[in-house]
Amino acid sequence: MASLSFAPQPLTCRNLDSRARSVQSRRRGVGFCNFKLVAGGGGENGSAAAEPDLSVTVNGLKMPNPFVIGSGPPGTNYTVMKRAFDEGWGAVIAKTVSLDAAKVINVTPRYAKLRAGANGSAKGQIIGWENIELISDRPLEIMLQEFKQLKEEYPDRILIASIMEEYSKSGWEELIDRVEQTGIDALEINFSCPHGMPERKMGAAVGQDCALLEEVCGWINAKATVPVWAKMTPNITDITQPARVALKSGCEGIAAINTIMSVMGINLKTLRPEPCVEGYVTLLGLCADFCHVI
Ligand SMILES: Cc1cc2nc3c(=O)[nH]c(=O)nc-3n(C[C@H](O)[C@H](O)[C@H](O)COP(=O)(O)O)c2cc1C
Repeated sequence: MASLSFAPQPLTCRNLDSRARSVQSRRRGVGFCNFKLVAGGGGENGSAAAEPDLSVTVNGLKMPNPFVIGSGPPGTNYTVMKRAFDEGWGAVIAKTVSLDAAKVINVTPRYAKLRAGANGSAKGQIIGWENIELISDRPLEIMLQEFKQLKEEYPDRILIASIMEEYSKSGWEELIDRVEQTGIDALEINFSCPHGMPERKMGAAVGQDCALLEEVCGWINAKATVPVWAKMTPNITDITQPARVALKSGCEGIAAINTIMSVMGINLKTLRPEPCVEGYVTLLGLCADFCHVI
């Protein structure tokens, strides 16, 4: 009989300054990650092994397993998030929402693929995936109704709302208030989208500017009553600097990483960029196997 067991133990995720602690004390199970992995072997008579327990508790969020869907297409709407829960994912981070979805214009096509093999052979395995997709363009009210419905139907599953707002204290406060009313378990703050409307100080424009980040994290953590994770951009010389600022400003955790700024390439037959939107392209966010080494 084989058995493997790591008893739950508190792991100090980080050192907290006193300001962060006071923010945290208002939230559940803060500052500790409890990790338990128990795998049982067959019984005395070779009976089937008990199912392994992969459950984890992070910042008080109890998940059946540590596999969490990142913010993006699989968190776009009720149907896909429900599917993720039904398939057994430990938690879902919904597609990023903001107060006014009407300002978000998503273009088509907005994806491009990088394939392994000679000259990016069309048959090669996909090793890189690029996108110029913005945050959710669905009305906030609809996204909120769907969060509420999911939490009613899956009360013991973890649903995390990803949020992004313009440089406005009242805007962030309103968004946090409305999102929290749906019953979501935690907030992930999108300080990381590379094409996240930087002209309005959204997304990576905040995550790349430590002074701005500190101010905005201060507003968010003064308002939020659930755990807050700050999602970081890799498009910065030293990612540990904004990560430390976010933690010192009261965020419970860091989510790493959003996509890597790059240009996918030029189609040598048409001499057009990929993806090509009416002849133009912009810098894209790269993800998938190709950049997991980073
Ligand atoms: C099409 C697409 C849309 C995405 N949209 C969001 C988003 O709305 N908010 C966000 O925080 N991250 C978004 N991401 C980033 C992912 O959550 C993730 O951080 C990124 O893909 C890197 O992880 P991966 O290499 O495991 O895919 C998106 C990624 C893709 C490919």
